[in-house]
Amino acid sequence: MKTALWYPYTDMATAPPALKVAYARGCKLYLENGSVLIDAISSWWCVIHGYNHPELNRALYAQSEKVSHLMLGGLTHQPAEDLASRLVAITPEGLNHVFFSDSGSVAVEVALKIALQYWRNCGKPQKKQFISLKRAYHGDTFGAMSVSDSEEGMHHLYSPFFNAYSIHNPAQNNLQESLNQLETCLDSNGHSIAALILEPLLQAAGGLNIYSEHYLSEAQKICQKYNVLLIADEVATGFGRTGALFACNHAGVSPDILIVGKALTGGYLGLAATLTTSDIFESFYGNPPLMHGPTFMGNPLACSVALKSIQLFEEGDYLNKIAAIENQLKVGLGTLYSEKIKETRVLGATGVIEVKDASALIGLQDFAIEKGVWLRPFNQVVYTMPAYTIKEEELHIIIETFSQWFS
Ligand SMILES: Cc1ncc(COP(=O)(O)O)c(C=O)c1O
Repeated sequence: MKTALWYPYTDMATAPPALKVAYARGCKLYLENGSVLIDAISSWWCVIHGYNHPELNRALYAQSEKVSHLMLGGLTHQPAEDLASRLVAITPEGLNHVFFSDSGSVAVEVALKIALQYWRNCGKPQKKQFISLKRAYHGDTFGAMSVSDSEEGMHHLYSPFFNAYSIHNPAQNNLQESLNQLETCLDSNGHSIAALILEPLLQAAGGLNIYSEHYLSEAQKICQKYNVLLIADEVATGFGRTGALFACNHAGVSPDILIVGKALTGGYLGLAATLTTSDIFESFYGNPPLMHGPTFMGNPLACSVALKSIQLFEEGDYLNKIAAIENQLKVGLGTLYSEKIKETRVLGATGVIEVKDASALIGLQDFAIEKGVWLRPFNQVVYTMPAYTIKEEELHIIIETFSQWFS
C-alpha cells in the first residue's frame, strides 16, 4: 500500500487498504462504501460513551468559544483546575496531585521520571531501576517500551536498549510463586530499584491477561517493605473497564503513582494524567523541578470534554451498565466451545478468547466485517472491549460472530 499516510503496527508493503469511515454514531461505524460495523473494541478501548455523544459535543464546542488551547507554563484555566480536582476526588485515596500530558505513553514517561527524581530528592539517587511484569505493555515511547515485555512484547526489536528487571506475570504463573519472585528480586536489588510498574488486574496489549486482585495488594505490601514505589498504569483499565472505576479499587490499593489516559476524554481527544501522593509531590519542594511540559498538556478542550465524560459516567449508572455487559459476556463466551480455543476470560466490559494457535484467527477479521462487526485480533487473542453504552442486541451480534467463527 503506497500511501502518504503511514499506518501503525502495519506492514505497508502487504497491508490491505484501511476501511474508510465516513461517520460514526453510538457504537456504529458507517463506512464510505455503505457498510455499517459495530465497533467491538471502541477505537482501542477509549470511546466509552459511543461516538458522537451530544453532551460531549456540546462541552467541546462551548469550550472552543472560550479558549481552545493555552500553555500551562505560567498560565492556567478553569477546566484544567477542575479536572485535576475531579481526578483527585475519584481516584484511590492519597493521590492528591495531577500532572497532565497528551497520551498514555507520555504519562508513563512522566511517571518514570517522577519516580527517579523522587528518590534523588530523598537522597537515594542509586534507586534508578524499574521492575515490570512479563507481558506488560506500557506504551510506544522509549521509557514506556523499556518497562514493557522486552522478549515477547511487540518492542523486542529494541530490547538491547532496555534494562528493567522483568518478573513473572501472575496471570500466566502460580500467584504465590510470582509474589515470591517479586520478593526475591526486591530482597537482592531493592536498594537500586525505584519502582514496580504494572497494569492492575488486566494486562491489555500484552495479551489481555487477567490476574487476581490478591497479587496487587500483596505486591504493594512487598514494595512497601523494600521501599519501592508502586506505579499503577490504568491507561487501559481506568474508567470502568474492569468493572470498578479503577482496577486498583478491586484490591483496595492506592498506588504511589497512578496513570490514566484513553477513556479519560471518552475517546474525544488525546489527554492523559499522572497522579501522585503528596509525599512525592512535596519531595520536589526546593529541589530541581520536574522537567517535563508537553505543549498540549491540559488542553482546555480535552479537559472540558473529560469533565463532561466523568459526569456522564457518574450520572449514567455506568458501573451497572458494565456489570450487565460482564454478565452477557460471561454467558456468551462461557458457552463457546471449540478445539481451537485455549481459554475464554471476562472481566468487566472486557471479553477475551485465547486460541491455542494464532492460525485459528486468520481470516476472522474479514469474517467479522461480513457479519457487520469491527474486531482486531492480535497474536493468539481476539477480544471485545465495547463502549459501555452498547445495546444488548449489538453485543449479542458480536458474541454470535465469535460463536459462528469457532463453530
Ligand atoms: C496500559 C497502557 N499503558 C500505556 C498505553 C499507551 O497509551 P497511548 O497509546 O495513549 O500512548 C497503553 C495503550 O494501549 C496501555 O494499554
